[in-house]
Amino acid sequence: MVNMYSKVKLSRTVITKATLYALILTQLLQVGVSYAAKPNNGKSLYENFGKGGCIQCHGKTGNEPVMPFYPRIAGQTELYLYNQMLDYKYGRRTNGLYIPMEVAMQAYSDADIKAIASYLAANTPF
Ligand code: HEC
Repeated sequence: MVNMYSKVKLSRTVITKATLYALILTQLLQVGVSYAAKPNNGKSLYENFGKGGCIQCHGKTGNEPVMPFYPRIAGQTELYLYNQMLDYKYGRRTNGLYIPMEVAMQAYSDADIKAIASYLAANTPF
């Protein structure tokens, strides 16, 4: 005798699996895009002499500050760097030597800043 319920259960399982595969594939593609494109974009944004001047103050990789009281920023987590840079850009971080940073961040969109954060986070610290 054919069990109706097992058929229903089977087709549900198939749909669920297909949906999961589609979701996982989409996520893998997004990860691929973010790892393939963003760090390079972030590198060129970071090194652009004409724009924010990052490299002049923070050095080649982000860990060669030109002044001993400037921070090392490579190897820090992406989310931390991103949040700090947004805080400077929108006037929410006004401690210490914030002024050059507030000025430097104005030239970048939030997406640019995310790309720079991603690039710096991927650099080996020290
Ligand atoms: C004129 C020098 C100068 C330039 C140009 C500059 N920075 Fe900075 N940056 C600083 C100083 C000084 C600080 C510490 C500011 C403070 O006390 O809050 C800092 C802080 C930071 C921080 C926060 C570090 C932390 O630990 O919280 C990040 C991230 C950062 N800079 C990234 C950048 C990026 C990316 C650029 C280019 C868009 C850039 N900076 C351009 C001097 C500079």
